[in-house]
Amino acid sequence: MRHLFIFPLILCCSGVKATGSDAVLQRLEELSQRVDHLESREKLHLQKINDLESRDQLQQATIDKLEREVQEQRQLIESMDEIQQATIIELEAQRQLMESMGETLESNGINKTSSASKTPNPDHNAKMSRSMSSIKERSAMGIRQAEFESPVAFYAHLGNHHFEHAGVNQIIIYDSIVTNVGNGYNDSLGAFTAPVDGIYVFSSTMVALQHRNAHSSFFKNSDRINTMFASGVESQYDTSSSTIVLQLSKGDVITVRNGDADTSIHGYDHSSFSGFLLTGLNNNQNVIIGK
Ligand SMILES: *[C@@H]1O[C@H](CO)[C@@H](O)[C@H](O)[C@H]1NC(C)=O
Ligand SMILES: *[C@@H]1O[C@H](CO)[C@@H](O)[C@H](O)[C@H]1NC(C)=O
Repeated sequence: MRHLFIFPLILCCSGVKATGSDAVLQRLEELSQRVDHLESREKLHLQKINDLESRDQLQQATIDKLEREVQEQRQLIESMDEIQQATIIELEAQRQLMESMGETLESNGINKTSSASKTPNPDHNAKMSRSMSSIKERSAMGIRQAEFESPVAFYAHLGNHHFEHAGVNQIIIYDSIVTNVGNGYNDSLGAFTAPVDGIYVFSSTMVALQHRNAHSSFFKNSDRINTMFASGVESQYDTSSSTIVLQLSKGDVITVRNGDADTSIHGYDHSSFSGFLLTGLNNNQNVIIGK
């Protein structure tokens, strides 16, 4: 615009003094050049602004893309975390199972397999210590299981004598022990004491002397469980026997007691008392014995 405005100015002044008009022309020329210069600089600036704007758009696009990628990665990591968490829980459960199996074996006198007793690396150790409390719980259970799985069995009879002049409810003491695995039977008391909660089986055989009757009963603590009867009165000798199955708590005492006043029971290996633990009980859950 300034260009067009200056041009008529040059025409109108062309007829004036040569020296003065030359100076004006030169000045005009300078101004014109300056304007050109400014215009080209402005163009450059505009160009630069355009460049910057398109670069900005590019950068924005890049940022958007990166943000999407970060979001995707985050989701991936989260889902991997979940998988890892589930795997850790599963492995932990398996390891605890093996731990309790190992302890059961150990307390049965069988060493752990070499792989189970190998010391794990420190990283593994750290993971293991995290579940220390549940391991302790498990090992307590392992000890209880080991108790159940210890065999309990006894067999005793009257030795080389009769059990004579027994009073009513007097405990018949089978003094000759043949078997007493687990030491549940005490031969000075004639009593079996249950070492663990469980289901037990007991048997007793009683032989009456000639021309005499005899009664005897199983007792659980002070409770009569049943009665055996043998009538030696009718015949020369008589015999009676009984097998019972009882669910006992640890510490329950089983005895065989005489029923009649001043009775005698035939000894010399004829009358006996035996029993064994059929299965231990843990929280009403059966555990197999003998493994
Ligand atoms: C268990 O391992 C120990 C040490 O290695 C060994 O002395 C012992 O005899 C082993 N016991 C059994 C039952 O294998
Ligand atoms: C049998 O019981 C008596 C009385 O409680 C006790 O003194 C004795 O040590 C017991 N015997 C065995 C072998 O445990």
